[in-house]
This record gives sequence, structure tokens and C-alpha cells, in this order.
Amino acid sequence: MTRHVLDIDDLTAAELVEVLDLAGLPASALPPTLEGRGVALVFEKPSARTRNSSEMAVVALGGHPVTIAGTEVGIDTRETAEDVARTLACYHGVLCARVLRHGTLVRMAAALDAAGVPVPVVNLLSDRAHPCQALADLLTLRQEWGSLAGRTVAYIGDANNVWRSLALGCALSGVRIRIAAPEGYGPSIEDRRAVEAAGGDLTVTADPAEAAEGADALYTDVWASMGQEDELAERRRAFTGFTIDDDLVGWAAAGAVVLHCLPAHRGEEISASTLDGPRSRVWRQAANRMHAMRGVLAWLGGAHPGPAAGPGTATSR
Ligand code: CP
Ligand code: NVA
Repeated sequence: MTRHVLDIDDLTAAELVEVLDLAGLPASALPPTLEGRGVALVFEKPSARTRNSSEMAVVALGGHPVTIAGTEVGIDTRETAEDVARTLACYHGVLCARVLRHGTLVRMAAALDAAGVPVPVVNLLSDRAHPCQALADLLTLRQEWGSLAGRTVAYIGDANNVWRSLALGCALSGVRIRIAAPEGYGPSIEDRRAVEAAGGDLTVTADPAEAAEGADALYTDVWASMGQEDELAERRRAFTGFTIDDDLVGWAAAGAVVLHCLPAHRGEEISASTLDGPRSRVWRQAANRMHAMRGVLAWLGGAHPGPAAGPGTATSR
């Protein structure tokens, strides 16, 4: 059966370790699993990191990336999501997409499965999940700490796509996850159940200091995600007090690191001095998007990490 990565819990805990191990290897140590093959990268929303890291990851594995604007193929406007998937699978070995609605990815994967077309679908961000980001986040933390299990990540902000995948990734990795969000912006009951079903140790609070206290990493994302721009004023009001700043970092464990998936809004979800300060690992995290993508694409192509694989050194920062 073709494996798709629509969220990080499409991987088992053991498979997640394999992907991180592959991501930690230099490109030269990986087999060219995409040699002579195309990879479609469809974007219904803007991107800097995901597009560029994905293209370069495909190139590193010997493949040819083709980036396609959502408007170009017109998912469910020019033709159905199913027909877009069937068409792109005629030319490409992997179909990666950043979509407005998570259901689009589910339909694409189902259409390929129903047709017996062995082309994996990879989520490059949907309204629900951002698994490739979570892989880079976990890779960054594993490089920082040497191992993941037993650590605590405190996420301060909106329980959005980035949080959902991060929380599931933490659950699969034995990392405790806390979230501090204002009322109405925290995880749903379904989200909590999903994290718990993945074995997660989840704490939900409306107090950023309570979440941050003793944590090994603090994490945040924008208050208004792509598509929520018209809610920005309301969200800025609701999230006042939920900024990661140097005072909040003071609540965390000594040596705690700060992550942000980027793009960042200095002075909103994170202060400039924290984002650009000594605890920040955001540029290593951004660089790791490419290594993580190479890892997941290699894994989907059948690569296995050798016994020498460890926390991962393949970073440019
Ligand atoms: N973090 C992230 O996904 O960035 P882009 O939206 O620029 O791809
Ligand atoms: N939550 C953000 C992540 C951007 C990488 C968004 O969906 O816009």
C-alpha cells in the first residue's frame, strides 16, 4: 500500500525515528531515490521555506522538482482535485501539495489509491497540519538535545496547523507538550484526543508562564495564519500577553531554546530580542526544513538509515 504523509502520525514512532535519522545524514550518504523522477510541488498558498527546501531536497535525491501554483491547475475550479492528482501522477513519482483545505489532500491520496497508482502524497501545509515543519522541528530539537524522550516543549499561541503536527510529533517522540492559548484558540476536544491517542502527555492552559515554566523549548507561530488575515485585529487583541519574550524565556529551563516555524512577526507572537537572541534556533530550524524534506522523501523512496545514523549533523547552521 502506498504511504502518504498527510500528517506526522501517518508515521509510526519507529518510522518517525527512521525519517529523522535519514534527515540527519548528509545528502551524499543517501541513495538517489528520485533519480530520473519528477516531484510535483503544488502551492495554493504562498511559501518561502517550504517551496525552496522541497525543491532542493528533490534535487539532492536526483529528482526534478516542478513547482505549480494552485491557480495554474485550479484544484476544484479547473478540474477536480482527483483529476489533478491523477494527471500529475502520470509524470511524477511524488505529489506534494500546500492546500487551502486538508480534505483536498485526503481526496488526492484516495484517488491515487483507488486507481492503484503508487504515488505518495505529501502535505506541504494545510489548514489542519504541517507535518514537514514538525519533522524539521523535531530534527532541530534532537540535534540540540541529543535525544527527544523526556523533554518538554511549551507552545505559546494559536492551536493551529503547526501546533497540531508538532503536538502529534512530540507525542510520538515521548516529548511532553504544553500549550498556552487564549480562550477560544486552544486545542479542540478532537485535537486533545488525537494527541492523547498518539501517546502524548498534553497540558493545556491559558497562562503562558505556567506553560513555559521549566520547559526545554518554547515554540510559537503567527497569531493569524494564511487565510485568517481578516481576523488579525481581533486575534491581536485576543493574543495580547501571549508573546514569547525574554521575560517568558526566564520561566523556562536553563538553556531552553526558542523555535518559530517562520514567517515571524516581531513584536506580536515573539519579541525581536528573543527571535534574534542567543536562545533562538530559528535559522537552524529553517535550514532543517530541507534536511527533513530530504529525509521524508528518501524514506518514501525506500531508503533506510544505516546503523551510524544519530541525532543528525547535516545542517548548514
Ligand atoms: N514555515 C513555513 O512553512 O514557511 P513557508 O510558509 O515560507 O513555506
Ligand atoms: N500557521 C501558519 C504557518 C505558516 C508556515 C499558517 O498556516 O499560515
